[in-house]
Amino acid sequence: MHTKHSATCHETTAPFLSGNIEDRAIRPATPDDCPGLVRLFRRTYGDTSHPCLDDGFIRAGIEDGSHRWFVLDTPEGIGACACLARHAWNRSREACFGVVLPELRHLGIVTRLARHCLDCMPQDPAELGYFSMRHPVALHAMRKLIDSVLVGHDGGPNTVDGVREYHMTAVHPPAAGRFIHVTPAQRAMLHWDFLRDAVYAPLGLAIRPGPYPEDCLVGTEHEQETDGFRYTFDARIGALTLGGYTGAAPKENGLADDLERFLATHGKADYVCARILADKHQLTRRMLAMGFAITAYLPAWYWREGARFDALMLVRRRFDDSPQANGFEEEIATMDQAFAQLAARLV
Ligand SMILES: CC(C)(COP(=O)(O)OP(=O)(O)OC[C@H]1O[C@@H](n2cnc3c(N)ncnc32)[C@H](O)[C@@H]1OP(=O)(O)O)[C@@H](O)C(=O)NCCC(=O)NCCS
Repeated sequence: MHTKHSATCHETTAPFLSGNIEDRAIRPATPDDCPGLVRLFRRTYGDTSHPCLDDGFIRAGIEDGSHRWFVLDTPEGIGACACLARHAWNRSREACFGVVLPELRHLGIVTRLARHCLDCMPQDPAELGYFSMRHPVALHAMRKLIDSVLVGHDGGPNTVDGVREYHMTAVHPPAAGRFIHVTPAQRAMLHWDFLRDAVYAPLGLAIRPGPYPEDCLVGTEHEQETDGFRYTFDARIGALTLGGYTGAAPKENGLADDLERFLATHGKADYVCARILADKHQLTRRMLAMGFAITAYLPAWYWREGARFDALMLVRRRFDDSPQANGFEEEIATMDQAFAQLAARLV
């Protein structure tokens, strides 16, 4: 992944120097920084469902090397941070967790931190790069470093100060010809303007239809497993995220039957989210009939045996409050319209 303005990592060991913000030290985080990072997130987000209020979550990522954090020190402790996470299951890298204390904002700090994250991790040419954001400022800052194409949202399950809000997903164009990418071959996809013009074209992806793997539900959430479904349930916000299917049903309709039974037993959640491969139209149709809506088109999301395949994000919401869009109102409306068009073609 090539950033627009590459930085070196020379600043990473400099200690904090008083005075101009340009002199302040940016350095990689260590496990000792976990309490300071939790304090930073608590101060920024208050009562939130953000995973970074959990010391153990941050520590695990630093210790196993999957999360590379950079922090900015101030005399009072960590004043800002950003992270690059590597997700082995789908060979992706995610720029995430950019936070700057209010008194340090508008000084270019998150931009510098994000640049360090992007530049200081060895690249894997087969990787897909992406990030999720709650605010247009984060998209603006990232676009200064690397091209980023919005591809959808999460339906807004998470909370900041007790209020639900959307997170958008943006994907970075892959380096030319770096990975094999397969387009779902159905007409509904090949003739969908949004996919061609708003996703593939700006990402530089060609339309190359081909067969998809049999896998249907894809993901990595597997804290619990019942009745053939692996999932994570976040009781604080009533959010169930499906991470995979281990049941015996061989076909999409069989899986849909199992999913209907599973949701009848376990689906009291306010929010259910699933990522399914974009060629699985029978299953998509059945899920739309169960009350799901498409909220994102995730190009090249799934990696399997040397090739990348697209996925759809489907979400079922049962909560009454409307999530805040924080300035993304127009983008969400436009994308929801495009996803509704696709849904109408599929049913
Ligand atoms: C979003 C956040 C990380 C930005 O950090 P920052 O260090 O102030 O950002 P930068 O100074 O690097 O600014 C990046 C760009 O955004 C612009 N910007 C920053 N804050 C802005 C604001 N409130 N409104 C409009 N533009 C803003 C800057 O002008 C700059 O663009 P420019 O170089 O073209 O002028 C910070 O506001 C924050 O921590 N917010 C709360 C947590 C959060 O929402 N994090 C993002 C999670 S996705």
